[in-house]
Amino acid sequence: MVSDAEELVCDDLPTAFRPELGTVLVAGATGYIGGRLVPELIDRGYRVRVMVRAESPEHVERWPEAEVVVADALIQEEVARALVGVDTAYYLIHSMLVGPRRFEDIDTQAARNFRSAAEVQGVKRIIYLGGLGDTQVDLSTHLSSRSQVAEEFSRGRVPTTVLRAAIIIGSGSASYEMINHLVRKIPLFLVPSWAKTRCQPIGLRDVLKTLIGVLELPETAGRTFDIGGSDILTYEEMLKTHSKVLGRSRIFIPSPVSNIGFYSYITSLLTPIPAAITWCLMESVTHDVICEEQDIVKLIPFRRISCKEAFVLALSREEQDAVSTRWSDSYPPDYELAIKLREIDGPPTYTSSYSLVTSKGAAALFKSITHIGGKNGWFHSTFLWRIRGAIDRLLRGVGTTRGRRSASGLRVNDVVDFWRVEEIQYNRQLLLRAEMKVPGYAWLEFRVDAISGDKNRLSVNAYYKTKGLWGRTYWYIFLPFHHFIFDDLIKQIERRSVD
Ligand SMILES: NC(=O)c1ccc[n+]([C@@H]2O[C@H](COP(=O)([O-])OP(=O)(O)OC[C@H]3O[C@@H](n4cnc5c(N)ncnc54)[C@H](OP(=O)(O)O)[C@@H]3O)[C@@H](O)[C@H]2O)c1
Repeated sequence: MVSDAEELVCDDLPTAFRPELGTVLVAGATGYIGGRLVPELIDRGYRVRVMVRAESPEHVERWPEAEVVVADALIQEEVARALVGVDTAYYLIHSMLVGPRRFEDIDTQAARNFRSAAEVQGVKRIIYLGGLGDTQVDLSTHLSSRSQVAEEFSRGRVPTTVLRAAIIIGSGSASYEMINHLVRKIPLFLVPSWAKTRCQPIGLRDVLKTLIGVLELPETAGRTFDIGGSDILTYEEMLKTHSKVLGRSRIFIPSPVSNIGFYSYITSLLTPIPAAITWCLMESVTHDVICEEQDIVKLIPFRRISCKEAFVLALSREEQDAVSTRWSDSYPPDYELAIKLREIDGPPTYTSSYSLVTSKGAAALFKSITHIGGKNGWFHSTFLWRIRGAIDRLLRGVGTTRGRRSASGLRVNDVVDFWRVEEIQYNRQLLLRAEMKVPGYAWLEFRVDAISGDKNRLSVNAYYKTKGLWGRTYWYIFLPFHHFIFDDLIKQIERRSVD
């Protein structure tokens, strides 16, 4: 069984379920591609084990039919444990969020650990999705790191299928979010010279079909395939295509400036993608990224969609509020340093609380709480939240442009602007952890508590843990705003609750 929100795309695959396969492991299941692949595999009948880095009730809730194993690919013993009894392992691990200076070594080390653990555990095949790029040219750190991972697997004894993709277009994909935000926000594009570089984007559904197709075709073991969509476009043509899809007329004029650093910084300011990542993705835009061979099309024949179709599909998923994974929900670089509220030593350094008593029901109040952020705004003084988000972006933080995956539903680990859902107790509590730049750790808690009779107390609590002088100063700078923002926020939540 797969949740209704998941759209399955492999029904028309020409390959068939292989009942003889044992456990299929998905490493990187919490990522953009992994999160979409797991329901497809389950739906097709495979026994799936998902490898995640941190234990969370959300994983069991999200994949009740899958076995969840906690392992960090950088810790050899943990990977070995995750691979016990595995027949085929998908490798969809990627550390780009830690930034260009660090991810190369980390990704190679993770792949090395995975390869040797897979050999020891007798895994029969690894399937790795990497990046497309001519290995003869001077590739970006990002693309050369992707091919180093492929090389690492090719050195091992476990036959590996390597799939090389350029830009993946799907709801919530990094490239789609970049293009979508740029086209929506910019009426006039100053087009740099490298925007004439050609690329062969691929729709997310075609990536998923190919990932499943190679699993079901044993002869693809030990081979490398380039995968792409049905058309080749320049970056400028891609922007124009999406502006047509959105029905926005946009002006494109040649720019005297083509500095990639400048464009990647501007892109990061206007989109939810942090500067370090826009730089990684744009660093090699001067080289064509086109399939060098198309053998996979003959081996797994199905109709590959065009870039325009991929944009239309991504947009319609957004409009239906049915985006199941988003790249921007990935953890920011400081994620490893994130501490949960119940894990901190002692009480928070500061707390501020605002509450009101209401006769409205807990379910209605909670529903209203779970609509905050994203396109819905913060019900009151949204401009102040946005200003805080803009300051965060200037400081290279996540800002508020990440919005939220779904306008109506929230699950643990979902992003809400510059917050992340840490805990949800339905009709009772929503706890958000701050991911913006703050000199300490901050949380925002919404609670609904039953009090005497048919009354409920609706409250919002801001918790802050800090050690340094700057951290304390920061709290006092923002304290006057708390009263202004939070007091009105809960009044608005109450007002919008409909029993
Ligand atoms: N998305 C695209 O547009 C695109 C395009 C071409 C190729 N690809 C390739 O597709 C693959 C998957 O990409 P993606 O976009 O799905 O990546 P992603 O969203 O960034 O997800 C990366 C995954 O790797 C996991 N991970 C990172 N470090 C780990 C570690 N040390 N141990 C265990 N897990 C770890 C992350 O877990 P946490 O959740 O714990 O961080 C997350 O599940 C990559 O190889 C990428 O090069 C993607």
